[in-house]
Amino acid sequence: MAKHLMAAAVVLVLAGLTGAQAQDYPTRTATIIVPFAAGGPADITGRLVADIFSRYLGQRFVVENVAGGGGTTGALRAARAAADGYTILSGHLGTNALAPAFYPNLGYDPQKDFEPIGLTAEYPELLVVRKDFPANTFKEFVAYAKSNPDKLNVGHAGLGSVSYIGCLLLHAAIGIKPTMIPFTGTAPVLNAMLGGQVDYECDPVLGTLSQVRAGNVKALVIAAKKRSPLLPDVPTSHEQGLPEFDIAPFYAVFVPIGTPQAVIDRLADALSKGLNEEAVQKRLAELGADPVKPERRGPKALADLVKSETARLMPILRAAAEK
Ligand code: MLT
Repeated sequence: MAKHLMAAAVVLVLAGLTGAQAQDYPTRTATIIVPFAAGGPADITGRLVADIFSRYLGQRFVVENVAGGGGTTGALRAARAAADGYTILSGHLGTNALAPAFYPNLGYDPQKDFEPIGLTAEYPELLVVRKDFPANTFKEFVAYAKSNPDKLNVGHAGLGSVSYIGCLLLHAAIGIKPTMIPFTGTAPVLNAMLGGQVDYECDPVLGTLSQVRAGNVKALVIAAKKRSPLLPDVPTSHEQGLPEFDIAPFYAVFVPIGTPQAVIDRLADALSKGLNEEAVQKRLAELGADPVKPERRGPKALADLVKSETARLMPILRAAAEK
């Protein structure tokens, strides 16, 4: 009995300590895992988040790129990390919602193994082809792709990445199955496209924007209902009669399940304050992000978004993969 009481007392003391430590959070450098290669949409977004946390929470938040497995290697690392707020995941629609469609033995459950912190941004995807690709319009692309599916090399950031998912939707809609080449992120895909080794990719706007503007690659269509103000001449998939190619993946912040509520609250509050800054909103708009209303940003809204995007897209992806 005495032994039990002592054990209970130890548990209480430990719980108290954890609570007190959580109140002080953060007291040292924290790591933000970006599960893709440096220089691409995930990395740019993760660094923006790191900057916000560093400024609002008074400690260094350092990005670590843990690429591989379409983002699932880094997400798994984050899921298994100590739930103390010092390992954070800047994930996205693929890693934190749709990965189970592609990996039967994923090693983590996007909805059970993470606590949502908040939505950072949503960016529509572009279909971008190499400069000398024999199509200058989306209609020409579809005609060429349908008659030459065996000649096409498509770059993507790994099975289950959003660049993979975007092109999967495109291919299913036009009825082709070209060769899909995995990279560790879409920044290396872009390099391969500039070098002529890859014909095209489907990537969130920010990934290729500067090379599109410089005329080094060609953006043929945006997978959205509305044109981007950054690329007003690029038609939408809806205008082009291909509404199935419509994707604006979310990029968002998560921590391992079991993270103390006080830590979650501090992170969510910092993220929300950072995203409210005019300069941050301007930067996101310059990157091609769709505006996100404040009420869609917090942990609860992100949990709902993960659920609704999973329910909406899983059947579409499974059908597309079977085509
Ligand atoms: C990247 O940053 O490389 C891409 O956003 C990853 C992806 O396509 O999912």
